[in-house]
Order: sequence, then C-alpha cells, then structure tokens
Amino acid sequence: MLLVLNGPNLNRLGLREPGVYGAQTLEDLERQCEAWGAELGESVTCRQSNYEGQLLEWVHEAQEQGFTGIAINPGALTHYSYALRDAIASQPLPVVEVHISNVDAREEFRHTSVTAAVCRGKISGLGFFGYRLALEYLTEGVG
Ligand code: DQA
Repeated sequence: MLLVLNGPNLNRLGLREPGVYGAQTLEDLERQCEAWGAELGESVTCRQSNYEGQLLEWVHEAQEQGFTGIAINPGALTHYSYALRDAIASQPLPVVEVHISNVDAREEFRHTSVTAAVCRGKISGLGFFGYRLALEYLTEGVG
C-alpha cells in the first residue's frame, strides 16, 4: 500500500510551463500511478496539497495509516523546507523523492534539495516515468 504525495503547484500540471512539465494533468499522473500500482500488485493512494503543513501531516501519519512506502514530489519545498525534511526523517518508511523535470539542469536554486538526503534516493528529469520507478523500487527494491 503505497502513498504518492505531490506538493505545491503540481495541481497546475498541464497548465504550468508545459515546455518543462508536459501537457498532462495531475489527474493523468494520479490515474497513471494507480495503474502502475495495479501492475505491480500494490494499491496506490495519491494526494496533492499546496500547503506545507498538510504534506507534513500526511508524511507523519503514513505508517499508522498502513502505507508501506512514500513517493514524494515536494515541488519547490524541496529546495528550502527543513520542516518537510524533518518530517521525512521522522518517518521510518522508505521515501523516494521524485521530480518531473531535471532539477540539476535548471536554475541554481533548484540544484539544492534539503529533502533528498533523508530519502532513499532521488529521481529527477524522467517525467512521469520517475514515479513509476519510485513505485517499482518501493514494491520490489526495498531490501
Ligand atoms: C519539481 C521541480 C521543482 O523545482 C519545482 O519547484 C516544482 C516541480 C519537478 O517535479 O520537476 O514545483 O519538483
């Protein structure tokens, strides 16, 4: 039972900077993640919020809610949210950070992730497929 979390502005997928993030919507992404979960034999729950505190609470509660792993795209919170970093560090479940765009090929401020070091790993630049790889890892790769 896996949790996919998307942070600020990811509800704007399909509208925001399509040259960077593509033409597909958050709903397309969420349906795709559920379908990938079904292929992997895992149920996938997707949530998105523009509010940092909401994301923190979802991370806090994930284990007690029965999830076994989290794929998270923290959006811009990646680059500065020590609160999200601490929430992830407090969560014993495996967490994988995902970015649709290649953050290392973009503006300097996107090269810093304050959250990646407390995640199992970071996938960046592979579009929606990065979520698939994260789900696969959380299903089959966690040792
Ligand atoms: C993003 C990259 C972040 O720098 C940006 O703030 C986002 C999306 C990505 O998926 O590529 O909102 O996390």
